[in-house]
Amino acid sequence: MRESKFFLYSLLLDAAPFTPKAVSTETCSFPRGISLGAGRPLPVLWNAMGKIVGIVNQKGGVGKTTTAINLSACLALEGLKILLIDCDPQANASSGLGVQRDEDRVSIYDVLIGESAAEQAVLQTEVEGLWLLPGSKNLTGANIELAGAEDRTLRLRRALESLPNSYDLIFLDCPPALDLLTLNVLCAAQTLIVPLQAEYFALEGISELVSTLERVRAAYNPELTIEGVLLTMYDDRTNLAQQVTETLREYFREILYRTVIPRNVRLAEAPSHGKPVAIYDPRSRGTEAYFEMTGEFLARNQIESPRASAGKATASTRLQAKVSFWPYA
Ligand SMILES: Nc1ncnc2c1ncn2[C@@H]1O[C@H](COP(=O)(O)OP(=O)(O)OP(=O)(O)O)[C@@H](O)[C@H]1O
Ligand SMILES: [Mg+2]
Repeated sequence: MRESKFFLYSLLLDAAPFTPKAVSTETCSFPRGISLGAGRPLPVLWNAMGKIVGIVNQKGGVGKTTTAINLSACLALEGLKILLIDCDPQANASSGLGVQRDEDRVSIYDVLIGESAAEQAVLQTEVEGLWLLPGSKNLTGANIELAGAEDRTLRLRRALESLPNSYDLIFLDCPPALDLLTLNVLCAAQTLIVPLQAEYFALEGISELVSTLERVRAAYNPELTIEGVLLTMYDDRTNLAQQVTETLREYFREILYRTVIPRNVRLAEAPSHGKPVAIYDPRSRGTEAYFEMTGEFLARNQIESPRASAGKATASTRLQAKVSFWPYA
């Protein structure tokens, strides 16, 4: 057990020691041929608006979109005003919130190429307090169309700066690649949530992600930090899951969320009904887990749930509580 744990840890040795706010002044080029340019770090312009949180991992199928939808929905159910932006050509966050594919609808693609203001593309969802800026499969083309533009990595950031200051939090769902779309997210976000599965390959990807993060900090976004690393689809019956969790806890320390999201069939079913799990099955383990994570997110950010402060029933502030009934019924 000890030996295999050391082996898992050795996978992380390639990654720079994790420093929540280290800023290098070096200029650098981005891996895979995408140049970030030699720009000096830009001044921080987003203090006046809601915090912007990217949900990122270049590995596919790790629970980015599930986390984006359900964390956003739980926060909206707590009474906060949330905007979720779907930056993935697969547009899973859009369909998971009941917004079906329509290539003629204004989407984040039109915003990135400069043909629409962000505000015009925002849609109200079924969940009160949750708005969506939908994705589109046209986004695949944006990677190519924007390749020659000088400000190609900053399109999203500029678009967000033009939004009215009406959201408490903005979440950005990323595609499974370190491409130009993800780079736009890294340049626009203040913090990142990294969903991970507790398995061998997940650790390999962390090293690449952390070094990309350092490069983006150095070139464009010195304030960028990891808000938290979230274990998803967790099965605590396996030794490997427990070893990977211990390894990640040693590497990321308090950055790793205490909440883990279990594998839960209701979480997998909910998107096909176009609903967050808290609406689709309020009594499920998935709902309970995402409310618990919401509580941890709020506590870390020192945000009080508006429902709680209004003296109303709330699930996420009772971190240890088991949600055995729909708390808002
Ligand atoms: N905790 C969970 N329990 C069961 N199924 C889950 C859970 N989390 C996610 N899933 C399912 O796993 C699949 C991948 O999840 P998701 O789409 O959230 O990952 P992703 O990282 O956004 O993927 P991609 O990289 O393709 O965008 C989906 O079918 C989703 O419904
Ligand atoms: Mg996704």
